[in-house]
Amino acid sequence: MSEPESFALLNDYSITVPPRHAVVHSAAEAVTAAETIGYPCVAKILSPDITHKSDAGGVQTGIHTPEELRASIATIQKNIHERAPDAAITGFVIEEQAPPGLELYIGGKRDPAFGPVVTFGTGGTLVELEHDITMRVAPPVSKEEAAGMVRSIRHYPQLAGYRGTASLDEAALSDAIQQVSALFTNRPEVAELDINPPLVLYTDGLCAVDARVLIRPPAAAPALSRPPPLPENLFFGSRIALVGASANPPKKIGYIVLRNLLTFSGTVYPVNPKGGTIFGKTVYPSLADVPPEQPDAVIVTVPNTVVPQVMRDAGVRGIPLAIIITSGFRETDREGGALLEQEVEAIAQEYDIRYTGPPNCLGLQVPPRLSLNATFDPPKSPRIGHTAFISQSGAIITTLVDWSLSRDIGFSAVFSVGNQTNIDFVDYIRFAAADAYTRTIVLYIEEIRDGRRFFEEAAKVTPPKKPVIAIKAGRSAVGGQQAAASHTGSLAGSYEVYEAAFQQAGIIMAHNLSDAFSLAMLLGSEGYPQGNRAVVISIAGGFCVLASDYAEQHGIQMAPPLSDALLAEMNAFMLPGWSRQNPPIDMVGDAGVHRFALTFDALIRHQEEWDIAFVVSVPTATIDPPVHLATEMARFSRHTDKMVVGCMIGGGESMTAGVRVLREAGIPNFEELEDAFRAAGAAVRREEELKKHL
Ligand code: COA
Repeated sequence: MSEPESFALLNDYSITVPPRHAVVHSAAEAVTAAETIGYPCVAKILSPDITHKSDAGGVQTGIHTPEELRASIATIQKNIHERAPDAAITGFVIEEQAPPGLELYIGGKRDPAFGPVVTFGTGGTLVELEHDITMRVAPPVSKEEAAGMVRSIRHYPQLAGYRGTASLDEAALSDAIQQVSALFTNRPEVAELDINPPLVLYTDGLCAVDARVLIRPPAAAPALSRPPPLPENLFFGSRIALVGASANPPKKIGYIVLRNLLTFSGTVYPVNPKGGTIFGKTVYPSLADVPPEQPDAVIVTVPNTVVPQVMRDAGVRGIPLAIIITSGFRETDREGGALLEQEVEAIAQEYDIRYTGPPNCLGLQVPPRLSLNATFDPPKSPRIGHTAFISQSGAIITTLVDWSLSRDIGFSAVFSVGNQTNIDFVDYIRFAAADAYTRTIVLYIEEIRDGRRFFEEAAKVTPPKKPVIAIKAGRSAVGGQQAAASHTGSLAGSYEVYEAAFQQAGIIMAHNLSDAFSLAMLLGSEGYPQGNRAVVISIAGGFCVLASDYAEQHGIQMAPPLSDALLAEMNAFMLPGWSRQNPPIDMVGDAGVHRFALTFDALIRHQEEWDIAFVVSVPTATIDPPVHLATEMARFSRHTDKMVVGCMIGGGESMTAGVRVLREAGIPNFEELEDAFRAAGAAVRREEELKKHL
């Protein structure tokens, strides 16, 4: 859109633009127009070929006289000829110069996964450098959300009145954000919008002194006819057929899957035209030959061309779930492979079969209830635990399960989502949310296809009790940014949009697997902290200092000075030299388990003074064996509903038994002190972000 058209659009949405402006085609016309508009005024290039007018030297401000105006028009023409020689000059816009105010920025774009995204932040020429922005997906943005956006930027104190300056018109700003959100909802042809340079905010009102609007024919709504929700017991069947079961060790996938299925508590029916027996189990020549009880699921490990026939056979038998491990579809062959994939989809629809993959599906594991490892990797099943891991990468599953075994980390379920043609993240999240064994959900995501549906469903799971933690790959990807013509595009890259959507839905974003599982362990056992006041209990001065540093770094507040009553109780059993200038509570190096226990008792009696307790222990002769301290920590945790975080540091042999006692008591332990603060900080931040945005 040209600038006058953009102004007209903003006007329609009650966003103030310079009221006096005119399009002219020569210096003489400019001077005539300025007689009505008044001085000082601004002259800008009008060209369909120039998006960033200032960068091309197409904007002149602070024009006070007709002579200056003529000179400015000449300067603009010269700049354009030099910097953008191919650009057509269709005219100039002359507008009154808005008085100075706080320069801000509002924009929006349509994200391929999440749809409209509204962005707000500090504006002006440093907008990219400052990167002080916030965004919301899935408008319409409510009044409260818009106000929350305003409050959430770093420079908010400037708006609220900083060092004696008057507070600015926050209400007008919130309204403008809401209006931009409404504009994106009502005008599907608006692809990007950018009010920068800038939106100027005053003590009373605001003015959008420029606007770039990119129009694109609206994309046809994706024909995503979603199948109905998964039946609740879909993954808890007791009879599984494996088509492509093989007796050929050691590397045949059909062999490995069958071997992994041997732990399954239900019945497995191997299927292979050769018949015979494998691992002592009767092999059936086809699905039709499997005994009359209908299998609950079929795992498919036959070559790609055979998959449609297997799906048809499964349909005839009324099998509701297929786990298709086979690859060789659209991902390898855009023609033949894609056709095969469509055929599979059509058969699934015809027979009402829900399926995972193809391609990229490793299978699934449901350890606690079924001892089910329906994958061709890893050879060892994960330990039983309370975290459901839902991953778009099979390789990350195998690596992670291997890693988890040595760390005593367990899973309630592990799902490989494949390419999400049929069963997708939302289905798995819903399943994990309803599963009694699952307390936390960890997602490894490369791409979400229907972002809005994902966002809405995840938001239903996160608030009450099941924390969802996500690792999103592709931070460095520029795909979402390449096509962007405006600042909005570059500010709201695809990773940032995911970040915003996750935050809105209450999902915690982790930057690596280790952080994700630390957090899952913490939240799975302790739930969300009730507040942000932490106490640190330790005998190691060095770690007390580090704890203070880490707390500050990760947004944990050390509790305010403990009350006189609590201090008096602790004075009774501490040595005279203990650190009274709490927190942290440094009990001095000779403290044994008994002094820890007495401190725990005092903290239990004064629970209203703190929200999170970090218990820091090091290998030392006074706490030998550490298992005694672990037992006391378990008692401490049992008698408080506050978050208790174990920091038996070092991970050496001397700590092993103690750490195990903590695990059995459901207390998270961190071998690295900073990991404990990072995890607790992420949990605290999530609560604060939610409050800020609502
Ligand atoms: N019904 C039952 N079994 C059949 C069959 C049918 N209609 N047609 C063939 N089979 C059997 C074969 O006889 C063979 O068994 P055998 O070892 O006893 O001969 C078995 O199914 C497998 O067929 P085969 O032709 O040997 O294929 P393969 O084992 O070399 O490869 C796949 C099959 C599925 C493993 C392979 O096509 C593939 O997709 N590999 C990649 C898997 C992958 O990486 N997935 C993504 C993970 S993230």
